[in-house]
Amino acid sequence: MTPRRIAMLVILGLAVLMIFLSTRATPSDQSINARVSESAPAGAILYAQNCAVCHGDNLQGQPNWQQANADGSYPAPPHDVSGHTWHHNDAYLIAITTYGGAAVTGVATNAMPGFQNQLSDSEIVLIIDYIKGTWPDDIKAKQLNGHN
Ligand code: HEC
Repeated sequence: MTPRRIAMLVILGLAVLMIFLSTRATPSDQSINARVSESAPAGAILYAQNCAVCHGDNLQGQPNWQQANADGSYPAPPHDVSGHTWHHNDAYLIAITTYGGAAVTGVATNAMPGFQNQLSDSEIVLIIDYIKGTWPDDIKAKQLNGHN
């Protein structure tokens, strides 16, 4: 073998090794979500993109949210401590975001849309985690015993 051939074989071997190393051991989706969840920016971004238009940039809800509209529907409530999002347990918050208010509560005028066709289950969990992460500890503790 000529030195030139040996050099080419070495280069080829290194290229194959690099391709092998770059494709193996990619983390599972689960661990990626867990990491994003811990640092929370993904949930905040998804909230801004999907929820803020009604529930407000700062989770403040729509004005006069406790007063019914002319058609019997209600404005979007705040998700901060002044609202009642924290009265509800995780299962309820996830269900209402996934399937919508009318489907979950049985009240036809409930205007909360369902996001099952726009957001994945893990994206919905990230958004709820983001909302919960803005609450003080005592409210977080109360929400653990929240109802449906
Ligand atoms: C088109 C406006 C609109 C958008 C967009 C919207 N919501 Fe709502 N949401 C509402 C309204 C209106 C209600 C209250 C319905 C009622 O009580 O009659 C509500 C209620 C809720 C509730 C129940 C709160 C409680 O205390 O009972 C949750 C949780 C919620 N929304 C989460 C979300 C999340 C998360 C997003 C984004 C993924 C979102 N909403 C996007 C309008 C909206």
